[in-house]
Amino acid sequence: MTKPRIFVTRRIPEQGLDILRQACETNVWPGELPPARADLLAAVRGVEGLLSLVTDRIDAEVMDAAGPQLKVISNYAVGFDNIDVAEATRRGIPVGNTPDVLTDTTADLAFALLMAAARRLIEGDRYVRAGAWKTWGPLLLLGQDVAGATLGIIGFGRIGHAMSKRAHGFDMRVLYHNPYCRDDPYAKEIGAECVELDRLLAESDFVSLHTPLTAETRHLINATTLAKMKRSAILINTSRGGVIDHDALYHALKDGVICYAALDVTEPEPLPADSRLLTLDNVIVTPHIGSASIATRAKMAQMAAENLLAGLRGERLPHCVNLQVYEQRRS
Ligand code: GLV
Repeated sequence: MTKPRIFVTRRIPEQGLDILRQACETNVWPGELPPARADLLAAVRGVEGLLSLVTDRIDAEVMDAAGPQLKVISNYAVGFDNIDVAEATRRGIPVGNTPDVLTDTTADLAFALLMAAARRLIEGDRYVRAGAWKTWGPLLLLGQDVAGATLGIIGFGRIGHAMSKRAHGFDMRVLYHNPYCRDDPYAKEIGAECVELDRLLAESDFVSLHTPLTAETRHLINATTLAKMKRSAILINTSRGGVIDHDALYHALKDGVICYAALDVTEPEPLPADSRLLTLDNVIVTPHIGSASIATRAKMAQMAAENLLAGLRGERLPHCVNLQVYEQRRS
């Protein structure tokens, strides 16, 4: 029996590729960088399965280039704003993602960024490497306390929730904002309060973003919302760069509207080396490594492979973001 043809847009951990190679004729993009658009369009031609990354824009053009036999798109990420899911749904193509396995890993990074910004770790490291460390200094690199401070979490899904656990362990007070406040026993237990966005911005010493990027959340953090934050506030983003208006953030950090930002995601990605943000000392930028632990990336690879294989077999994906495709099939 001939194996189904699939395209994997970059090398992922072997735990996933092994599974795929056994069942499929697997073409893996060999480059360190994502395939250029023309390469992507050429490589998907005739495939039944596509395993994509957050760096690939998967839209109608890609689905057309693949052809009508395309059965499944499996994204190697929990977020899926890089995929035109509505278009996939219209075509009856299930789209898979990799939730849960990366929750703690991403919350760990968000909390690491919070701590690093609060205590100015990266500035300290730069200072030492520059040979500027001459003596213990009573006023040297003074930062902010975490214990007793208020953390405002925007987006209280899986990762926002995991962030609240870390904050509670560090004796922080937690506020959160969600489109709707649902009864949450853990939030109740730690005294976390679901509040309006304005109150969260006004009262938080740290604001951490954990919302997906949608039309509603694009540039949610802008000149207006930044101005509602404390001047001492620290902003952390491990969600998607597009949630922040980066021009507004630059001015807010430069003019002291807020104190610090720690960003694992930016707009655009990669952040150009000549970005104005990188001229500021009160910014930390990491290269979108929220889920980047060895174990988590291996689990994601396995999960993405399993989603893909289920789609190829015509079975329900274990983790599907557009369950409507199955309802459409029934009706
Ligand atoms: C990474 O950003 C992801 O969505 O998994």
